[in-house]
Amino acid sequence: MSKNFYHYPVWVRLWHLINAVLCLFLIVTGFSMLYSDPDNALVVKFQRAVSIHNVCGVLLTISYTLFLFGNLFTSNGKHYLLTMKGLGKRLWKQGRYYAYGYFKGEEAPFPVSSERKFNPLQQVSYVGVMYLALPMLFITGWALMFPEFILKKFLGFSGIFLTDQFHVILGFLIVIFLFIHLYVITMGKTPLSNFRSIITGWQESH
Ligand code: HEM
Repeated sequence: MSKNFYHYPVWVRLWHLINAVLCLFLIVTGFSMLYSDPDNALVVKFQRAVSIHNVCGVLLTISYTLFLFGNLFTSNGKHYLLTMKGLGKRLWKQGRYYAYGYFKGEEAPFPVSSERKFNPLQQVSYVGVMYLALPMLFITGWALMFPEFILKKFLGFSGIFLTDQFHVILGFLIVIFLFIHLYVITMGKTPLSNFRSIITGWQESH
């Protein structure tokens, strides 16, 4: 029998909505800057894409800071604490389930419970995105907004060029994360149950 757990408090749902919308704006304007030039717009005109990208980047930094405080001062943070012991085995088990067991109708190896909101793969990817990729994206993004603070040369390369390359690679990583995220969240109890949980707050166990 499935059980429901209230895993997504209002602040997480609001943060997630704002975060997702801002990321989509940043991705569209980021691609527009990367693949268009001042005379030839891809989706958004170059100058407009720069302005929207900057404003969304600043707003995302603010919403991210609120998320960090939320995780520091509420029980949501405990779901982001990785236990390294046996992690490889747990990731393998969950990976095998996503690639094979799920399609064979097997039981999920790490079902949702009051203590466990994320399975090991979700946990590692959320920790990676929220505590590694996004902070580095902010640092490089803010540096590009204030290029006077970037080293002129590093290992013979222009500092701005390297910062920009790093920023773009991180942006691509977020896009890859988003595709995987959108696919994996359809693998809940039903294809729509995880979408429902980020709207209502209640998560169904398998
Ligand atoms: C259209 C875009 C998006 C949709 C539809 C979406 C959907 C969802 C859903 C349904 C969940 C709940 C299921 C789960 O816990 O896995 C979730 C959780 C989560 N998503 Fe997304 N997402 C989107 C974009 C993003 C982006 C861009 C990021 C980060 C850069 C992100 C990071 C997260 C995180 C960290 C959680 C767990 C939050 C928590 O409970 O602490 N999502 N998302």
